[in-house]
Amino acid sequence: MESTYLPVINKTVSRIGLGTWAIGGWMWGGSNEQESIDTIVNAVDLGVNLIDTAPVYGFGLSEEVVGKALKKINNRSEIVISTKCGLEWKEGKVFRNASRERINKEVGDSLKRLRTDYIDIYYVHWPDALVSLEETGEAMYDLFKSGKILSVGVSNFNTDQMLEFGSHSPIHFSQPPYNIFEREIEKEELPYCLENNIFLMTYGAICRGLLSGKLNIKSTFKGDDLRKSDPKFREPRFSQYLDAVTKLNQFAKDCYGKSVAELAIKWILQSGVSIALLGARNPDQLNICKNLSGWKIVSEDLKRIDRIIKENVKDPVGPEFMAPPIRKEKAVRK
Ligand SMILES: NC(=O)c1ccc[n+]([C@@H]2O[C@H](COP(=O)([O-])OP(=O)(O)OC[C@H]3O[C@@H](n4cnc5c(N)ncnc54)[C@H](OP(=O)(O)O)[C@@H]3O)[C@@H](O)[C@H]2O)c1
Repeated sequence: MESTYLPVINKTVSRIGLGTWAIGGWMWGGSNEQESIDTIVNAVDLGVNLIDTAPVYGFGLSEEVVGKALKKINNRSEIVISTKCGLEWKEGKVFRNASRERINKEVGDSLKRLRTDYIDIYYVHWPDALVSLEETGEAMYDLFKSGKILSVGVSNFNTDQMLEFGSHSPIHFSQPPYNIFEREIEKEELPYCLENNIFLMTYGAICRGLLSGKLNIKSTFKGDDLRKSDPKFREPRFSQYLDAVTKLNQFAKDCYGKSVAELAIKWILQSGVSIALLGARNPDQLNICKNLSGWKIVSEDLKRIDRIIKENVKDPVGPEFMAPPIRKEKAVRK
């Protein structure tokens, strides 16, 4: 497993991180606790020592399960926990709240659920237009100075927001979406982070399963699975993306003896990103991580990948559908 050193937290971390949104069940059609714990333990056995979670994933459930797994693993100092703040929920509805009051409450709740006394990487999950970046930034910086969090991250921030937030708090990490199909950050956020020494930990490595190679036109999704409303998983786009996946899979097999999922993750790891998050929900889904060492996609083939996508995906669409709403009224502060 490839790894990278993170000076701010003084730990070496695997370049694949385990994402635990699906483990929280919410928006992924449910989850099974024992299978989730086995997945986290298996990830650590494979050398994946970064676990990414958030309070909103299952409304506390994902963090609870990560906390139980951490207890079982019993090696806290070797694990890097990344979690988030700035989203609130009421009766199953999620909205943004990155106020100081909310952040201070969330950090305590997360520490309890995770059964730990510090968080390695703490992200603002989404910028909140109703709260100034000064208030959010200062609240995060205060937590950093207190030692409850070892580093500060922002997620889903554009460069203007990073610039403003960065005048009130250090930014050590940024967590945007990034994969072969969703490259919006290449224009501004990716170069900005590289120029400003902000580590990139990107999400959606296999585009919510689309790049796994296991889906076909008849694939359906259960319950509250977000892919029911994901425009990439609806016609006419679904067929276009699936055609691209079929061709990329053949290309990966012919040229590298790999699967499309392995190609997709390798592609991210060659792009300047420090860590790619993979949202495995059972131990088998982690097998991809075993086949990422000792090979590289050559630059000519990066161009071929681009051509395959361009030729097949005529009507591309980004991940914007995932953005949670801004609350209608400003929260009444006590
Ligand atoms: N900061 C943010 O706003 C934000 C947003 C999204 C995600 N994230 C983080 O990033 C992580 C990864 O993103 P993601 O979970 O959205 O997307 P992802 O990693 O692209 O896809 C995850 C989904 O793909 C399927 N899958 C995973 N491994 C597979 C394999 N080997 N073979 C076949 N299918 C496989 C699973 O769903 P099925 O088995 O149901 O098909 C899984 O839930 C999240 O868990 C979360 O920690 C952060």
